[in-house]
Amino acid sequence: MVDAYETFLDGLRRKKGLDLNGYKRPQMERRINSLMRSLKITDYGTYLGLLEKEITHWRKFLDTLTINVSEFYRNPSQWQVLEDQILPELIQTSRSLKIWSAGCSTGEEPYTLTMVMMNRFPNVKFTMLATDVDDEVLNKARMGAYNDKAVLNLPQNYINGHFTKEGSNLVIKDEVKKRVNFMKHNLLTDAFDRNFDLILCRNVVIYFTEESKAQLYRKFYGALKQSGILFTGSTEQIFQAREIGFSLVSSFFYKKGD
Ligand SMILES: C[S@@+](CC[C@H](N)C(=O)[O-])C[C@H]1O[C@@H](n2cnc3c(N)ncnc32)[C@H](O)[C@@H]1O
Repeated sequence: MVDAYETFLDGLRRKKGLDLNGYKRPQMERRINSLMRSLKITDYGTYLGLLEKEITHWRKFLDTLTINVSEFYRNPSQWQVLEDQILPELIQTSRSLKIWSAGCSTGEEPYTLTMVMMNRFPNVKFTMLATDVDDEVLNKARMGAYNDKAVLNLPQNYINGHFTKEGSNLVIKDEVKKRVNFMKHNLLTDAFDRNFDLILCRNVVIYFTEESKAQLYRKFYGALKQSGILFTGSTEQIFQAREIGFSLVSSFFYKKGD
């Protein structure tokens, strides 16, 4: 039997293009119910109507599900491994790197990596695809305007070199912006491009069911070149890595093959 929660998910998919079906139900349901309680709404239909009509409620909904939170240079120690170990190794075998930030949210991650490539490896060619399922975060990413909080972890020379100050915002310069190709893409349902040297998929799968995660990691494996690297989020260990064909190079970095 289809219950009220499933009907709500179906409405979200049809009306807002957000598919929460692959996400773990208990966490989602708890957060959604608590949002509804705070608004004194008792049925999903009314809440869906509000989400459709009011952009502020929609943003609050996405924020509460922590679906969109991002920052530049998130988890700096992992970026250090990327810069000092992973990228130099990839560059030895590929003359031009094909990179994908999957679930890029408002752009902090692909812009960080673009700045790293420009600063640390200025002579290396690369392409940077950045995808997300949510149109609004993609629009924000394309605008490239951020508050001070987003850049807290970013080394000062990156801030000085690649942003301009516009009012209270820091705006990413065009020379960085034009290197990133933002595109709408659903990791659970859309086809994947191939031959990537490096895929970043960080803090995206937290709500995915084990089954969707396993399927996704297999698809990433297929999308990587031999010896290509998948960079995951801090809480996102791939339990079936060996079985899929990945080897762990460093925590959170999985290599296709040995
Ligand atoms: C928490 S943000 C992570 C942003 C960035 N990767 C980081 O680590 O800072 C998660 C993003 O994943 C996106 N996302 C969730 N489900 C997705 C799906 N099925 N396909 C593509 N993107 C998805 C959300 O829209 C959100 O922007």
